[in-house]
Amino acid sequence: MRYAILILPSANRVYADSSVGLTVAELEIFAGAVLEGEVGDITAEDIAGVPYVTFDSAPLDERATRFLANLSSIYALFAVEGGGLLRPVPLHPLDRFDDDLVTIPKYPGKTNEQFTKLLLNATLMGSAFAGGMLDRRLTVLDPLAGRGTTLNQAMMYGYDAYGVDRDQKDFEAYSTFIQRWLKEKRIKHRAENGPVRRNRQVVGRRLQITLAATKEDYKAADTQRIDMVNADTTRTLEFWKPRSVDLVVADAPYGVQHGSRTQAKGLNRSPLELLRDAAPVWAGALRPGGALGLSWNTFVADRADAAAALTDAGLEVVDSPAHRRLAHRVDQAIHRDVLIARKPG
Ligand SMILES: C[S@@+](CC[C@H](N)C(=O)[O-])C[C@H]1O[C@@H](n2cnc3c(N)ncnc32)[C@H](O)[C@@H]1O
Repeated sequence: MRYAILILPSANRVYADSSVGLTVAELEIFAGAVLEGEVGDITAEDIAGVPYVTFDSAPLDERATRFLANLSSIYALFAVEGGGLLRPVPLHPLDRFDDDLVTIPKYPGKTNEQFTKLLLNATLMGSAFAGGMLDRRLTVLDPLAGRGTTLNQAMMYGYDAYGVDRDQKDFEAYSTFIQRWLKEKRIKHRAENGPVRRNRQVVGRRLQITLAATKEDYKAADTQRIDMVNADTTRTLEFWKPRSVDLVVADAPYGVQHGSRTQAKGLNRSPLELLRDAAPVWAGALRPGGALGLSWNTFVADRADAAAALTDAGLEVVDSPAHRRLAHRVDQAIHRDVLIARKPG
């Protein structure tokens, strides 16, 4: 069978020329991890003047379709039939909340939600838990969480979401947004927000939320957790136990000015130094078999140096031609690349 993926119109806006190539790469990564060699001949193709990504596959079963429904740029999936007819294949993505959870927040320095989903997906596919994407409550840590784009995406998937950011304004903005959003959507939850003390000293602030998508789940204690800390990322293991998270997903500071707010704000070291200091801590937080996904600006650190920081922390870089094709241009000052690395075990 031949299938055709129609790409989200917003992905074309976000990535301009890269959206098709990134979709091809993401599909190859899914195919390698969870579609057991079912998918082949992945091609960028124009159908009636509209760009699609097409591929060959044995007829997709329900499970395969459920995985593909979560590709970061998929808008619709079609089976290509005789005479060039496109038959829509129903998609049932994991998304358990309204999508304004990820689309409402807009601020300079935000990692766009489509790329955040791509990074989370590629990280998950690089871990030993890829097969559990659809039915496990995974734990995702963003140790450079900003105003929570990764946390919101993890929550959409039904996962537990942990975050750390040293910027107090980001912490407060996220805290205000998520609590207001949960209230407006009448999502059953309880929240605690307060200072964290060690030896009677305040070492940071912490927001902990327990929530469930339905009242029944909440009653049955089938809940998700959000746990966001305002602290330096190198202190991550003061807040969670070693080997307690499945995935670490981080979009590193770009080291450039962005609008009125500097991306380098609060940075007391270069992005590469930050990575070298923090990678051992992040690796320590991962469970064996877990994976770390990192995106960064190659104008401030080259791929080999970033990869060395992860390898030195005891992680194994997951590499393939598809992984190499995740690099793309963001703007004049930012060329973004992605590294996925797994904790052995
Ligand atoms: C590219 S931004 C991430 C944006 C985030 N993904 C979002 O969409 O809001 C990088 C973040 O790293 C944070 N950061 C930089 N150095 C840090 C450190 N040493 N500890 C904790 N956070 C840090 C910055 O405050 C910034 O929010």
